[in-house]
Amino acid sequence: MESAPEGIVDLPPIGPEPILRLATLVCQTEVMHAALELGVFGSLAEGSLTEPELRERLGLHERFSKDFLDALAGLGLLIRVGDRYRNAPVAGHYLVPGQGVYLGDYPRMVTASFQQAWGQLSRGLRTGKVETQPRGGFVAKSHEDQARFKVYAEVMDHLSTRVARDFAERFDWSGYKDVGDLGGARGHLAAALLEAHPHLSGYCFEPPSAERYLKGHMAELGMAGRVGFVGGDLFTDPIPEADVLVYGQVLHGWEDEERRTLVRRAHEALRPGGMLLVYDRMIDEERRDQQRLLYSLYMRLVSPMGSEYRAVDCERWLREAGFPDVRSEPLLNTHTVVVGLKSREE
Ligand SMILES: C[S@@+](CC[C@H](N)C(=O)[O-])C[C@H]1O[C@@H](n2cnc3c(N)ncnc32)[C@H](O)[C@@H]1O
Repeated sequence: MESAPEGIVDLPPIGPEPILRLATLVCQTEVMHAALELGVFGSLAEGSLTEPELRERLGLHERFSKDFLDALAGLGLLIRVGDRYRNAPVAGHYLVPGQGVYLGDYPRMVTASFQQAWGQLSRGLRTGKVETQPRGGFVAKSHEDQARFKVYAEVMDHLSTRVARDFAERFDWSGYKDVGDLGGARGHLAAALLEAHPHLSGYCFEPPSAERYLKGHMAELGMAGRVGFVGGDLFTDPIPEADVLVYGQVLHGWEDEERRTLVRRAHEALRPGGMLLVYDRMIDEERRDQQRLLYSLYMRLVSPMGSEYRAVDCERWLREAGFPDVRSEPLLNTHTVVVGLKSREE
């Protein structure tokens, strides 16, 4: 008897679904983009609508509309009850134009910059080089385009608010009187810490081009004058002394030698007994956390020398700089904070 042709009967023991899923992740992104572009979430701001009502209001074609709306529900952006659709809480909070906090300009922008960055991965993998701004240019560039900076800053501020709330509770601030956020963007983290602990004063250290952003943002928050601005380069300009210093997502922009320098400079600027907080999406010791590894690759693609790094390495840089008491702790499920306490004797 002839044997059956190979490949028909001999199915491989596993299916290709994980590969197919990875190859089609873009569908989810595009459905969200289209919903933002068409104004789905704005249309549902006042309450729920049926599919025909939405179709008419948004000018959708009936060949697509039902699949589209149900796909949005599947993505967690809409909720369907019976035949009516409404915004899921996350969409209601962040994706309705002109209402509350609007982050709807961010997805398109970030997807475009991701496509540009990730499109260079193979080249980067082979040559180690990608097209990016020269050393330092990455920072200056982000301040050039005001509208773009604002969109990014609003998203970054959300993370800063959550980090500040965490720090406000995690540490005992009663013995500290001031905090400096080094590379603190438009000062949001410092402002949130000062709000939680009104006895604190604080400053934000950034290149001079960031000053107008900080001043504008503080005025919007009703914190004008509370967070000082220090304009300069963290590598060359004096860092004002403080009881607590923070590097939030700053060390990931540099290489180990520069990270050591930044940590050393913070140690020098801290008063005796002071505390340094370094947070980033640090890579776990075993290097298995997929999200953090992807962020690390992304940093390699968008900055000339950046990458994420392991908490154990960061702890070592702090010890080398002279911090006798160093530990690392998880932060918000996505980040790690390395805490260094400076000796009281210095
Ligand atoms: C990724 S952002 C992080 C901002 C903020 N800490 C946060 O976590 O949202 C890095 C910040 O560090 C600042 N920065 C990087 N290198 C710097 C340098 N050499 N001198 C001053 N600021 C610097 C950049 O301007 C930028 O705002």
